[in-house]
Amino acid sequence: MTLLDHIWPTTATINSYGHLTINGCDVVALAHQYETPLYLLDAATISQHCRTYHEALQHGYCGTSSIHYASKALLNTAVAQFMAAEGLGLDVVSGGELYIALRAGVPAANMHLHGNVKTRAELEMALEAGVGRIVVDTLDELALLSQLTSHHSQPQAIMLRLAPGIDADTHAYIATGHEESKFGLPLAVFGEAVDHIRESPGLRLSGLHVHLGSQLFDDRPFVQAIELLLDRASWLRATFDITIDTISPGGGIGVAYTTEQAYNIHMWAQQVGRALEAGCAARGLPLPKLVIEPGRSIIARAGVALYSVVATKAAPQRPRYLHIDGGMADNIRPALYQAKYAALLANRAHENPVEQVHVAGRFCESGDVLLRDVALPYATSGDLLALASSGAYTLSMASNYNQVPRPALLLVESGTATLIQRRETYADLIIRDSALPVREKGLG
Ligand SMILES: Cc1ncc(COP(=O)(O)O)c(C=O)c1O
Repeated sequence: MTLLDHIWPTTATINSYGHLTINGCDVVALAHQYETPLYLLDAATISQHCRTYHEALQHGYCGTSSIHYASKALLNTAVAQFMAAEGLGLDVVSGGELYIALRAGVPAANMHLHGNVKTRAELEMALEAGVGRIVVDTLDELALLSQLTSHHSQPQAIMLRLAPGIDADTHAYIATGHEESKFGLPLAVFGEAVDHIRESPGLRLSGLHVHLGSQLFDDRPFVQAIELLLDRASWLRATFDITIDTISPGGGIGVAYTTEQAYNIHMWAQQVGRALEAGCAARGLPLPKLVIEPGRSIIARAGVALYSVVATKAAPQRPRYLHIDGGMADNIRPALYQAKYAALLANRAHENPVEQVHVAGRFCESGDVLLRDVALPYATSGDLLALASSGAYTLSMASNYNQVPRPALLLVESGTATLIQRRETYADLIIRDSALPVREKGLG
């Protein structure tokens, strides 16, 4: 298509009008019909990523495996249904995510409940629904779960999420496996956690888990984590005759946003699979089920965000600003951790860049600049800006800051766009509000 093909959905092309098209849909026409900001998801790209994971695990690991989509990356009813149809389970981290997934018809048994904070109500909801596994993050959570399940006739399968003290190379805000991380049980309390489980008839220790961070491009920390988990698995077997059936190295596989190359999923699965097979053989352990939890690498590239350029601002000797009709409230990543994106003008996608501009969001924060120094054709108000790799951690983190309604989301498939989440309305903004009773003025 153009420079940086690998960051746009696999079906992206430019048509004879010079418009960006995704999976047979002219995005300029979609922007006119549905208004901007608008998010598109390419069904073919998601399916391809799911297929790649299935194949990579089949070739890379001799044992059984399953893929749990980390729904925090992006979730609504249609996305949950789509993932289930692709043969993926779901990783959910809140009562809200669990609710949406259940309402979408995803079997609870195919879900894992995660999170460093799970309230009593959320644990009760998960137990009642029958989620496949609860991934325990703290000793307090373990104590509560033990109490909540004490009368259960069938023990609840749980996994222990460990904080492995492994520093993966990524932004501090998305690193999760280091020693000071708020996530996971410190290794020092592993024995205590196991004692607690052994004294809890309502709990069964099914597996061990780590998640090292997001946007990772190096398999060494994953291999290190597998070794660390297998050492604990071996100790459990030798000491208590407990054989765990599941190991999860989490998610975190890196994707391309600008010039970087996405992490090769086949190579990643091979390294992880090999480490698991060799590690089990060396310790005399049976092969556990390998559960992985990719979020970003399933959905980021499938997403394109469309914004209208509403105004521009020029200052001498400085890049011009393009002011767009969205920004940090639909995509917080640049403001939160300086995430980088690439963009093009979707209505003039065949034109070459002629200047470097900053793309400023509409929200009342100076930090609301989605892109800095991005090369584009000369843009004016009315142009349509498309941001690549916008499917993950954008709408799922969206807010109503400045009381701006959140954008619509379309699924595009074989020339057809389906509205899977409508744009919010102004009425939605006050749907939870209650007006004060009329108060008379001047009374005492
Ligand atoms: C426990 C867990 N699993 C999976 C993921 C998904 O990570 P990613 O979207 O980078 O694949 C996360 C993200 O933070 C996570 O915390």
